[in-house]
Amino acid sequence: MSIVIKTADEIEKMRIAGKLAAEVLEMIAPHVVVGVTTDELDQICHDYIVNVQQAIPAPLNYRGFPKSICTSINQQICHGIPSDKKLKSGDIINVDITVIKDGYHGDTSQMFCVGDVTPHAKRLVEITRQCLFLGIEQVKPGAHFGDIGHVIQVHAESNRYSVVREFCGHGIGKKFHEDPHVMHFGKRGEGAMMKPGMIFTIEPMINLGKRHMKVLADGWTAVTKDRSLSAQFEHTILVTETGYEILTLRQEEQ
Ligand code: MF3
Ligand code: CO
Ligand code: CO
Repeated sequence: MSIVIKTADEIEKMRIAGKLAAEVLEMIAPHVVVGVTTDELDQICHDYIVNVQQAIPAPLNYRGFPKSICTSINQQICHGIPSDKKLKSGDIINVDITVIKDGYHGDTSQMFCVGDVTPHAKRLVEITRQCLFLGIEQVKPGAHFGDIGHVIQVHAESNRYSVVREFCGHGIGKKFHEDPHVMHFGKRGEGAMMKPGMIFTIEPMINLGKRHMKVLADGWTAVTKDRSLSAQFEHTILVTETGYEILTLRQEEQ
């Protein structure tokens, strides 16, 4: 296990890849409406990444994944495969975008509420977004990866939600997934120490019910065992000399 420290040149490339991934989410947002199929969202993102950004959609053919984006609806936790099913009013959906530009990856996801969403689903989405940002605020040289997991777990569980344990954030760069594993649960002071130039994702998956999951027969889609709703947000984060930089920040978040 060794965590890559990126050079100034690599960091600049990661800034570009991160910005492109964020721009795909901004581009697709107005399309995430009642009646659209997730295949249509996949096609629009694919064409934008390939033709406009002249980048590569990292999920496509990654370990056999068949599409260019992940779309995870309601009780789906992550790695949902776009299909010809239409979104309906009341759905909550995570769209997860990873692009490769000039050999480097940018990885980010957000939730969308489709039509009229119940207050309890909206609340899960908002608390999950807060979990991501509480985790991000821990990032600085000398902090430990366990600090991120700790604040996320405390915030989720104090709202009587649960944290999925099978999937983690990850180092990212030339590789889609590299060291370290960034857990979304844990204790302060645990794990490796952060150093300037490390780049990794934080991507908490929070369930309204119990934390347990199973993977569907398609080999990808992770769903909650108890069929409760699940939400996720993801950013790619650089450790700077004084704290952090969010490489995938969207305009609406600035
Ligand atoms: N983007 C996901 C992540 O955040 C990984 C998707 S892998 C895929 O790590 F193959 F499903 F695309
Ligand atoms: Co990721
Ligand atoms: Co992702």
